[in-house]
Amino acid sequence: MNICVIGAGYVGLITSVSFAKMGNNVICVEKNIEKVDSLNNAIPTIYEEGLDDLLIDCLENKAISFTNELGDSVKKSDIIFIAVGTPSLDNGEVDMSQVYECINEISKYINRYKVIVNKSTVPVGSQNYVKNLLTKNGVPRDNFDVISNPEFLREGKALYDFFYGDKIVIGYESQKSKNIMNLLYKPFNIPIIFTNPETAELIKYTSNAFLSTKISFINEIANLCNKVGADVDTVALALGLDKRISPEFLKPGIGYGGSCFPKDTIGLISIGEKYDCPFEIVKSAVSVNNKQRIIPVDILLEEYDDIKDKTITLLGLTFKSGTDDIRESPSLYIIEELLKKGASINAYDPMVSDEIKEIYPNINYFDNIKDSLLESECIIICTDWEEFKGIDLDFVKDNMKEAFIIDGRNMLSLDEAKKRNITYYSIGKGHTKGC
Ligand code: UGA
Repeated sequence: MNICVIGAGYVGLITSVSFAKMGNNVICVEKNIEKVDSLNNAIPTIYEEGLDDLLIDCLENKAISFTNELGDSVKKSDIIFIAVGTPSLDNGEVDMSQVYECINEISKYINRYKVIVNKSTVPVGSQNYVKNLLTKNGVPRDNFDVISNPEFLREGKALYDFFYGDKIVIGYESQKSKNIMNLLYKPFNIPIIFTNPETAELIKYTSNAFLSTKISFINEIANLCNKVGADVDTVALALGLDKRISPEFLKPGIGYGGSCFPKDTIGLISIGEKYDCPFEIVKSAVSVNNKQRIIPVDILLEEYDDIKDKTITLLGLTFKSGTDDIRESPSLYIIEELLKKGASINAYDPMVSDEIKEIYPNINYFDNIKDSLLESECIIICTDWEEFKGIDLDFVKDNMKEAFIIDGRNMLSLDEAKKRNITYYSIGKGHTKGC
């Protein structure tokens, strides 16, 4: 099929290469010309496992191209995917301006029947709004159908999820558009849930809010474990063995971040308010997360009354491993708190981006763990990068000003820390005081 994807951000890029790989002709339209040039030269603009090879493959097969020219791309295509950003506004509502701007633009070029598919996460009722906007812009009703097709991709595993996901959700109105979407997705062999657009739009928020709640729930249990001497991993293991619960998303830590959970939980609360459905549970999940992400600073302040002029090493800056994304990363909230309290910060992340160096030019960035620990009084592990499991604890004991670790992702062993007299705090797996 001839497909146009608008937006070469995270979702747009993964959608583009995945459909191209499946034998479709894909044009991805992106305003930012530097991104367009980079992608046409097979240089991915985001880090995502497997993306570099797939991009080369699709470009070589001429299955994909990138452009900033919208008109021709829309005219040539049968299906148009909208994959532009829908960030949160200050009041928690979803900012739909990029989606509307995009619809206004494409309205000018809809020259025959096209399926317009919303991939961006949008509030319930958006499909209807987009339909009305197209009509208002003079596009004949016979020339389009609007589909809601939310994505469930995890950063770092997005290509895997696109090809082997648990489900595809299609919110549709006309049989014609349902048939086209069915043809497009059938080769993926993933169960497809066909439903009305409102249900499809709500599934996305429900899914992200539920997963966020699961994380906040286990984090509260972890905090209690620390107080009563229970082990959170064993609690989570037993809990997860119950098939009604599942073992996934029960990993405690310093909270969830990223471009989705924080935004979508607040988004759902704001949608609920509009319809007089206060989401008390989701509100609690958000407030637990807000506290959880700065727990390492609370621990530091229990240990030292004052952290002014102390040097703290942050290991990991991205919101999770396997990505270079720092959006809403708990580490950013920890940095803010540490800076407010006058601490000085060393940082190491295997994927550290220029973006964070621009936001925080006064942090000392290192390109390996060991150098980042010298002259430092405490390590806070913020991200679950695999390499942190192999931190040399003897080096920590011998070379840090104080051997003190706050393990926000439970990467290390309490017993190993204890053996070396290292002060060590976990999230729900106890703590030990060194001397
Ligand atoms: C999330 C969802 O998992 C995807 O299904 C969804 O498509 C995506 O949002 C989106 O809406 O676009 P993502 O934000 O990439 O994907 O990351 P996750 O792997 O879900 O992790 C989110 C956060 O939760 C991370 O900060 C992670 O460290 C944290 N987390 C996750 C935990 O603290 N504990 C867990 O057990 C799992």
